[in-house]
Amino acid sequence: MGGGAEVSLSDAQEQALIAAAFAAAEHAYAPYSDYPVGAALLFDDGAVLTGCNVENASYGLALCAETVAVAKALGEGRRGGLIAVAVVGLKADSQPITPCGRCRQVLNEVAALGSTDPLVLCVSADDVRRVTLSALLPHAFGPGHLG
Ligand code: THU
Repeated sequence: MGGGAEVSLSDAQEQALIAAAFAAAEHAYAPYSDYPVGAALLFDDGAVLTGCNVENASYGLALCAETVAVAKALGEGRRGGLIAVAVVGLKADSQPITPCGRCRQVLNEVAALGSTDPLVLCVSADDVRRVTLSALLPHAFGPGHLG
């Protein structure tokens, strides 16, 4: 399973996706870490699906924002078409968040289903880092391995 062609977004698309991730982060339920996160997924038909982190009094059960967004997407019937992801952490003065290892794998599932290599925008209050999912998760294990 190969990665898709390199994605580039217009400035307007990028800003809209980042704004959607910031809006999602406003709904974060992160009373334990005090680290609100928002994620926004852009699909090739223009749809944007978002998620925020959802923590639990049983700390280890926390769900990351990207995972929540992917669950929404798959739960709505999406099977591929993922072209970009924005992830924002609302903590002031911190470096741009990058998806955790588990979220990289979770994002890869949707990407692999449509053979895309999404652009991942890693966002802090004053910085944006652009990296492809394949760079974040080289040699990914995916549905293709299962035959
Ligand atoms: N978190 C995310 O939502 N996404 C990531 O990729 C990294 C971490 C959340 C999990 C937890 O609620 C908080 O950030 C602190 O780890």
